[in-house]
Amino acid sequence: MAPWPYPFWIAHRGAGKLAPENTLAAFRVGAAHGYRAFECDVKLSADGVPFLLHDATLQRTTRERGIASQRSWSELSRIDAGGWHGRTYAGETLPSFEAISAYCRRNGFALNAEIKPTPGDEVETGRVVAREAARLWAGAPVPPLLSSFRPDALAAAQSAEPSLPRALLLETWRSGWFDEAQALACVAVVADHAIVDTEAVARIHAAGMRLLTYTVNDPAPARRLVEWGIDGIITDAVDRFSAGELTVFD
Ligand code: G3P
Ligand code: MG
Repeated sequence: MAPWPYPFWIAHRGAGKLAPENTLAAFRVGAAHGYRAFECDVKLSADGVPFLLHDATLQRTTRERGIASQRSWSELSRIDAGGWHGRTYAGETLPSFEAISAYCRRNGFALNAEIKPTPGDEVETGRVVAREAARLWAGAPVPPLLSSFRPDALAAAQSAEPSLPRALLLETWRSGWFDEAQALACVAVVADHAIVDTEAVARIHAAGMRLLTYTVNDPAPARRLVEWGIDGIITDAVDRFSAGELTVFD
């Protein structure tokens, strides 16, 4: 297998649940807990600017409603994406992918950018996120790992910027996943921890790929996954798992 430059522990959506997900504040909380690698969800504004948001709609993580991708970046960039979480984070904004890149590069943090297209925008999102990632991380020692549940988004990323590493996200071992991962020249598969077993680890490693897993927040499954030889864990529980080592604390 090719050398793997990414830290084992990856903070989910910045720092998962301790701060508003997919905001710069969440990244800072993860960093304060010692995390040096982060996962986030990236989609496009109406005018094609990549920014961080998990859902297609705004209501769960902002006080706005409606489909985020129908708004321009100038509108989106003024939305409060922190107040829903608690008063501490009121006024925290939706970050652009560019702002997150600047933060990660300045601090030497690794990024797993999940391409999370608004339905219908798969190809354009894959293409634009890959192009922007190549531009923003030009000359960086560790490129961002681009992942997606959507093979069409990964294929668009592959044709736009073939040299950027890709990973196929899987909730189930659905039919065709292995051939898709191979055709997309993925360096990794990122699977829901509920479906990971020793056979999966062995099969993926035998194919020269890494196996990462999400979203592991409890010590018992984390300990088992470490024993099985998993290559990385994406977690919300940055206050429970020490990012510096493979030991899993209760
Ligand atoms: O990338 C791993 C994980 O983030 C995938 O699920 O729904 O949290 O984006 P989700
Ligand atoms: Mg995600």
